[in-house]
Amino acid sequence: MSVAADFYSTFGLDVMAAGDAADLRVAGMSHVQGRVAPGPRKKLDSIAFGAFADDMPKFAERLGALSVERAAAPPGFAGNGLWFHDPDGLRVGVVAAERTSPETKAAFASSDARPNERGALPREQTPVARPKRFSHMAIYARDVERSVEFYSRAMGMRLADRAADIIAFCHGIHGSDHHMVAFVKSDGPGLHHSSWDMGSVDGIGLGAMQMAGAGHKRGWGLGRHVLGSNYFHYVRDPWGSFAEYTAGIDYVPCDRDWDAGVHAADDSFYLWANNPPDDFARNYEIE
Ligand SMILES: [Fe+2]
Repeated sequence: MSVAADFYSTFGLDVMAAGDAADLRVAGMSHVQGRVAPGPRKKLDSIAFGAFADDMPKFAERLGALSVERAAAPPGFAGNGLWFHDPDGLRVGVVAAERTSPETKAAFASSDARPNERGALPREQTPVARPKRFSHMAIYARDVERSVEFYSRAMGMRLADRAADIIAFCHGIHGSDHHMVAFVKSDGPGLHHSSWDMGSVDGIGLGAMQMAGAGHKRGWGLGRHVLGSNYFHYVRDPWGSFAEYTAGIDYVPCDRDWDAGVHAADDSFYLWANNPPDDFARNYEIE
């Protein structure tokens, strides 16, 4: 577990022991955004979505109407939330939780500098780069369209954009980033990346340098995506997934329909960046 704790604390998250697992939090937030637990091999065990407590009965009703079989809750969630499996067998939960996602487009700037002050501080005065919030995750799916349909019907998510049959992005209906979850085509389930908002391009660059300085040099970035419009730098984790520093992602307000499009993959993957690594979409969980 020390490898995971080192990786994520260097990434800028608060890492706290939880039994033999480690909980990941954005600094200063009580909400746990991720948990890493020891196991025989790399595996995405489950994902959970926060929901308004008032909506929980509606989710139960909807899952019942779709005849979705319930699954056992993962450790630490007993009696908490509705758990089931998605079409790829990944355990998914809907859990009553306080809202932690933004209600308007998240703050974004090219740098954290204030007007009429120096834009760049000397290195030794530059604070440690820390994510400001969890943004989204991308998971592997055998059939991207089938996953969009399932998450739409079971949880009311909506398609934001899709690139051929290779990747699809879904947003929530209560005002949400362009994507809360993305599905990446593969031969089985798995984690592609988790994404953490730095609030600025500077934050992304400083985070990337912080990780490279600790030996985590593999990844992809700096760049900008087309779908979602977010700036990115992906850092490869020790198990073959990525942790993404991001900023500036598009926002879908609750009172507006998003014009979801189907795009050509090579025209929509990234607006600018260096070349992605060869194994950027290789699912190490099914090998
Ligand atoms: Fe991402």
